Amino acid sequence: MSESRHDWFEGWRLFAVLALALVALSIWIAGMRQFEVDGVRMVIRFTARTSLLLFCLAFGAAALARIWPNAFTRWLRRNRRYVGVTFAASHGIHAIAIAAFAGIDPAGYAAATSIASYVFGGIGYAFIIAMTVTLFDRTAKALGASAWRRLHLTGGYYLLFQFMVSFGKRIPDMPLYALFLIPLVAVFALRVISMASARTPRTIETG
Ligand code: HEM
Repeated sequence: MSESRHDWFEGWRLFAVLALALVALSIWIAGMRQFEVDGVRMVIRFTARTSLLLFCLAFGAAALARIWPNAFTRWLRRNRRYVGVTFAASHGIHAIAIAAFAGIDPAGYAAATSIASYVFGGIGYAFIIAMTVTLFDRTAKALGASAWRRLHLTGGYYLLFQFMVSFGKRIPDMPLYALFLIPLVAVFALRVISMASARTPRTIETG
């Protein structure tokens, strides 16, 4: 597919369409349970999963385009910052639903969370905010190239780790949750392969 055919679904329009879809689906899911605690918890789980997908696409985009260059992977790499902002929006809905859960059912909320969820989840949100704010040319420039790289690399791997732990700890009760680890392991492997291939100098065979 030629790159121009992707033009419509690019940049801020891509973000607006995906973010609106996430908001609409979240309202619909909560509405199916009359906006009671079950519906709110379903939204927490739904946005954890949409965030997983968007995070893996954004964090794996450059490696994917390097290993399999084609129209789709180039489109994804071009739009990875907008996919990243959509990930932040998805996690913004996660936060709103968490606050609603705490308000509607304080006892259930206390049972579902711990000090560790605040500490590790809080660090996760701090990274998401810092990475989102510095996704734009002006803020990225103000931060400087090497600090930007350190922030996005550390934050990316921290979030990967947090998704692993948050999904992984549910595997003993629900073994199918192991499926959520597949995209995370795949993104990690893609980044390692891509980094290794970038470091290996290409030798040209001359007779
Ligand atoms: C202070 C911050 C956070 C709090 C208080 C929090 C709270 C919660 C709660 C209460 C649930 C369980 C919902 C239920 O069982 O009904 C949940 C699920 C989850 N959260 Fe968060 N969260 C936070 C941040 C994060 C972050 C930063 C990530 C990822 C980077 C994340 C990923 C997940 C995942 C993967 C699930 C499991 C969803 C599922 O069962 O499919 N959370 N969170």
